[in-house]
Amino acid sequence: MEKFVINGGKPLKGEVNISGAKNVALKIFVASLLTNDELIIHNVPHIRDVFLLLEVLEHLGSKVIVNEHTIRIRSNHIHKTLVPLEVGARLRTSSLVLGPLLVRYGEATIPNPGGCRIGIRPIDRHIEALRQMGATIEYHSEDGYFYAKAPSLHGTTVTFPKNTHTGTETLILAGVLAKGKTVLKNAAEEVEVDDLISCLIRMGARISRPAPRTIVIEGVEKLHGTEYSIMPDRNEEVTFAIAAAITGGDVLVHSSQRNNLVAFHDVFTKAGGIVIEEDTSITRYKAGKKLLATDVVTEPHPGFMTDWQAPWAVLMTQADGKSTIHETVFESRFSYVRQLNKMGANISFFDPKVPNPTEFYNFNWQDRVEGYHQAILITGPTKLHNAILEMEDLRAGATLVLAALKAEGESSILKVEQIDRGYEKIEERLRGLGARISRVREDFA
Ligand code: EPU
Repeated sequence: MEKFVINGGKPLKGEVNISGAKNVALKIFVASLLTNDELIIHNVPHIRDVFLLLEVLEHLGSKVIVNEHTIRIRSNHIHKTLVPLEVGARLRTSSLVLGPLLVRYGEATIPNPGGCRIGIRPIDRHIEALRQMGATIEYHSEDGYFYAKAPSLHGTTVTFPKNTHTGTETLILAGVLAKGKTVLKNAAEEVEVDDLISCLIRMGARISRPAPRTIVIEGVEKLHGTEYSIMPDRNEEVTFAIAAAITGGDVLVHSSQRNNLVAFHDVFTKAGGIVIEEDTSITRYKAGKKLLATDVVTEPHPGFMTDWQAPWAVLMTQADGKSTIHETVFESRFSYVRQLNKMGANISFFDPKVPNPTEFYNFNWQDRVEGYHQAILITGPTKLHNAILEMEDLRAGATLVLAALKAEGESSILKVEQIDRGYEKIEERLRGLGARISRVREDFA
């Protein structure tokens, strides 16, 4: 077990390069199951989720070669169609293999997906949509597996009842080789979905977005290999932007995803943050004279992403006044609040008045835990002090690192494997900006 030891209070200054996007890399790996040819993928981040998914693919029979940030995958000898529980349950994205395995091999058995502890996160929308394409899928609660079969998948029109990012990707990955035309309505618009689409088009798929929230896929006989470079991770950029602003620093971000961060920049600048366009792919972030309380409501793209709300909360602990965060995508993504309060933040929960919660929220309303609140009120500015903290999910982990970088004194953050799931060597990159952070092996006597 490892922990981070952070001595806060130092302004972060310097330059940092953004890694490839986790939420694209994982899906493109899965796309390799759609062809016998080799897929060469560049700009792959070295993070735990990447290696876990490669383990899943190797278990199925794919050959994987890792060379720095380039990964070559060839899936011409798939000999298993079952994802083992021990890997699959740790990585939600492993459920994405359903589409390619069904469309190419007629069967797939996957464990109920795990991943971040940010809610129940069912995959009912994926399953229902695949059934509409001709799959038979049964869930066996006694062993926790979905058993799926499909002699062939056929195109159809699927209307998702609510937004689903990976659900849309599952259907795209099934539709590209299905018979006929698949039309996805109310499909996710996250830019990471588009990066997957671009790679699939390079592999010979026929996919278009003729209207907002509509994706049309013309099934083809066969896909071929290609080389593809993954887009930079905009969630990482948000983390570094907040790190700069919260510590009174000045950070130059290379491989910036500025054009895909409009919703973030809107509130960041409203809150007193400064964004300077230095070059097409270089953006400078720093704090203005004063941070101001600013309310946010999370939404699917193009809104303020749910992935940004936890780091945003740390920024708001330093802003002048009362700010609110209303989480509408996941039913349980405030695990960090107790930890920030432990450090001296003043954050309380409340329930916003919503006319029709069943429709308003992106999660299934019935999955909500009784008594759990969907919004927080942050009163700032508050002085943050050191503490011993524990990460419960990836973005909450990044949030605690940010808080410790701001706090006075030495903090320890346990369970760093959570942050390793999505950020490559975060401590080295933060040190490059002047942070006093080290990774320490925890010894239990
Ligand atoms: N949902 C259902 N049933 C479904 C699908 C989704 O109830 O069949 C619910 C989810 O539980 C959630 C909401 O609907 O409450 C939205 O879920 P969505 O499917 O859009 O999210 P996801 O695919 O599970 C991906 C990213 C998340 C990111 C969200 C929002 C990956 C691997 N994960 O999750 O990333 O927050 O979309 O864009 O792409 C992260 O990187 O830390 C992370 C959690």
